[in-house]
Amino acid sequence: MTTSSEAVALHYQSGFGNEYASEAVAGALPQGRNSPQRAPFDLYPELISGTAFTAPRHENRRSWMYRRQPSVVSGRYQAYAQPHWQTGADREIALAPEPMRWHPIPLDNAEVDFVDGIHTLAANGDAEAHSGIAAHVYLASRSMERRAFVNADGEMLLVPQQGRLVITTEMGVLDVKPGEIALLPRGVAFRIALPDGPSRGYVCENYGAQFRLPELGPIGSNGLANARDFQAPVAAFESEAGSYEIVKKFAGRFWRAPMKQSPFNVVAWHGNLAPVKYDTANFMTIGSISFDHPDPSIFTVLTSPSDTPGTANCDFVIFPPRWLVMEDTFRPPWYHRNLMSEFMGLVYGEYDAKPGGFKPGGASLHNAMVPHGPDEEAFDKASHADLKPQKLDNTLAFMFESRFRFIPTAWALQSPALDTDYADCWAGLKDQFKP
Ligand SMILES: [Fe+2]
Repeated sequence: MTTSSEAVALHYQSGFGNEYASEAVAGALPQGRNSPQRAPFDLYPELISGTAFTAPRHENRRSWMYRRQPSVVSGRYQAYAQPHWQTGADREIALAPEPMRWHPIPLDNAEVDFVDGIHTLAANGDAEAHSGIAAHVYLASRSMERRAFVNADGEMLLVPQQGRLVITTEMGVLDVKPGEIALLPRGVAFRIALPDGPSRGYVCENYGAQFRLPELGPIGSNGLANARDFQAPVAAFESEAGSYEIVKKFAGRFWRAPMKQSPFNVVAWHGNLAPVKYDTANFMTIGSISFDHPDPSIFTVLTSPSDTPGTANCDFVIFPPRWLVMEDTFRPPWYHRNLMSEFMGLVYGEYDAKPGGFKPGGASLHNAMVPHGPDEEAFDKASHADLKPQKLDNTLAFMFESRFRFIPTAWALQSPALDTDYADCWAGLKDQFKP
């Protein structure tokens, strides 16, 4: 049985970081050993380790693939130009201590595929130091045809905003629609087809520790994102003959090499390193049922820890549809300034702290100790609202929150989408002290 990835009937294996096991041909997966002298059907065993061999067991991620050719079989690499994709903090850029916002990044002139369509808005840290992240948008209108991509610098968290993504990976196929996210491990080859045409979304490229589910503490054993709602693909391989181009991101630079065969030639695999997708509609949201509201850490879907406990390299946080029932409470986010730096995007709907100014496909950036909060309109409305139970519906905002300051790229600072009047949304807040 062979399968073409676009036509494959999609099945998934549920769980996060499980010992998944899948074979596209019955009997292809060796039993009882990982690398027998001859693997079934004379497939080549190949190991991918996403962590150091000696990483603690609960963090250790690796998978065994049984493939028609090992991935080392390729032509020579040559330099490839992707000028819009930046890696790590650019210290040459003077970073003003100001709130920043971008209008929706337009999809015009996007006659490119996912790889060429990535534009970095802001980045921090250093990929060589395994720390920090980049916040990108992708603006693409073409499927990747006979072309695969490998990111050796970090894992990629994809947040589609417009258009479905059909992601063919070495481990199988994920079909991901807006409202869902995909997490693609460092080093795993993938290609992305765009069945809905022009497509836009956000990417967190994580140079640091792999994303995992947060600890739940007093919440207990259930809640937030439940492990069983993550879906890994089942094994699927391409049987069509013909060459491929492989594009690799390696140490912040891009390289291309020809391949005589599809890199998606894994007939069976097992292990706990795998691409997964997750539908944010399955997020069990927790909030206050008395007064005030908790810190937004209560909305953490996935976390990439740093070496300081509780101070994340990156938290991926969502603001999904939810009920607000708190009494005697200013219900939108308070005015605040934090140690952690916040990059936000909006998938659809309205964000309650900025009902007019923050649009789907746009972004905002509030770096460490940069004050921000509800705009004038939101403050006025929330201060006088009749506090009945209220459903915030048809909305999905998210945040990449990091201990490291995000530095916008030159492209982001020069983009016509940069909202140069953003700070004016607070200008009308008057001193209303009435002693
Ligand atoms: Fe904030």
